[in-house]
Amino acid sequence: MMIVYRSNTGFTKEYAEMLGKAEKKKVCSMAQAKEQAAAGDAVFYMGPLMAGHIVGIDQAVKSFNVQGVCGVGMSPASQQVLETLSKANYVPNAPIFYLQGGWAPKRVGWLKRRMVNMVTKSIRESLRNKGSRRTPEESQYLNFLLHGGSYVAFEHLEPIRKWMNAAR
Ligand SMILES: Cc1cc2nc3c(=O)[nH]c(=O)nc-3n(C[C@H](O)[C@H](O)[C@H](O)COP(=O)(O)O)c2cc1C
Repeated sequence: MMIVYRSNTGFTKEYAEMLGKAEKKKVCSMAQAKEQAAAGDAVFYMGPLMAGHIVGIDQAVKSFNVQGVCGVGMSPASQQVLETLSKANYVPNAPIFYLQGGWAPKRVGWLKRRMVNMVTKSIRESLRNKGSRRTPEESQYLNFLLHGGSYVAFEHLEPIRKWMNAAR
C-alpha cells in the first residue's frame, strides 16, 4: 500500500511523510501518483478538510484502490468529528480516520481565510467570553484560531499505524 496525499498548506503532507517514514511506505502527492501509480494500486489517501469534505477523495477513489482514508482538519479530534466526516465522505469498504492538522491563515487566500473565520466566529467568541475561566488548552486553541499554528504530532498517527499493521 502506498500513501497518496493532497495538501494546500502543508499539514497533511507533514503527516503523510511521517506516516510513510514510520511504516516504510512510499509517499506521493496526488500529482506524482497520477504519473507513477497504476489504477488498482492499493492506496491510503490523506487530504485536507474543506467545508467537511476531504479534498481529492473523489479523484482518489476513481483512480486507485483506496483501502483507507484520512481527513486532516483544524478541529480537535473527537468521536463527533469522525462521525460527521464518515457521513460526508463515504468510501466503500475503507475505514476513515481524522487527524488534527493546523491552520495557516497567511498561506491561504483572503476568501478562504474569511470563510474559515466566519465558521470559527462563534467558538472564538465563546472562548473569548470565558475570559479568565479559560483552561490553558482553551487559551491555546483561541490563539490558534486567531493566528494559526500546528497540532501535528506523531502520536496522533497511532490508530492509523495500528490499522496498517493489522491489515498487512
Ligand atoms: C476554505 C477552508 C475550509 C476548511 N474547512 C474545514 C472543515 O470543514 N473542518 C476542519 O476541521 N478544518 C477545515 N479547514 C482547515 C483545514 O482543513 C486545515 O487547516 C488543514 O490542516 C489543512 O491541511 P493542509 O495544510 O494539508 O492543506 C478549512 C480550511 C479552509 C481554507
